[in-house]
Amino acid sequence: MDEQKVTTYTGDEIDVQWDSRLCIHIGECGYARGELFVGGRDPWCQPDLVSTDETMDVVSRCPSGALSYQVKNGSASEVPAAENTVQVVYNGPLYVQGDLDIEGATDDMPGLNYRAALCRCGLSSNKPYCDNSHTGGKFTDFGAVGETGDGFEQAGGKLNITPLKDGPLLLAGNFTIIAASGRPAWRGTETALCRCGQSKNKPFCDGSHTEAGFKTE
Ligand code: FES
Repeated sequence: MDEQKVTTYTGDEIDVQWDSRLCIHIGECGYARGELFVGGRDPWCQPDLVSTDETMDVVSRCPSGALSYQVKNGSASEVPAAENTVQVVYNGPLYVQGDLDIEGATDDMPGLNYRAALCRCGLSSNKPYCDNSHTGGKFTDFGAVGETGDGFEQAGGKLNITPLKDGPLLLAGNFTIIAASGRPAWRGTETALCRCGQSKNKPFCDGSHTEAGFKTE
């Protein structure tokens, strides 16, 4: 991972941080209506031009966790989504949202407590995070999900994500996998998701990483 590259945009009531190590330029911020983020302006992000609520709303749309915020009087902090979800992206990564505990995530990456884009093509130079290498690598998977899972009793709680060395992502907690079509496809408490790009049963690991000689470092 690159050296720390965090930019802070200071406001009177709220600060916004942007972490270039995690940003994959999806554009939820830049496309958002309003004056918080305006491309080509200096500075690009100006929290004092909108309400604190609007800042929190727009920042929390960032799927990679590159954006985060701190409310200065401590009256509010980001609240995890009520349900942990893994969105399989068409020809792209896994967008994970919820109350996340990603092994290896450091304290200076607060957005990863709530949102992350995780590599599933095997090509990222920033594993376990996506760096858009799936595009140049022509990774193809349309994001169908064939299994349904065993379900869970109650939504919420921590979702623990453990990237195994030279192997899959282990997920443990209550969570739903959403197919790229938008269909909530799988509900359960534990599974291994492919991050080598070779599984015949994507998004799940089928052991193909071994034969493929997948290396995470
Ligand atoms: S990580 Fe891809 S098949 Fe196991």
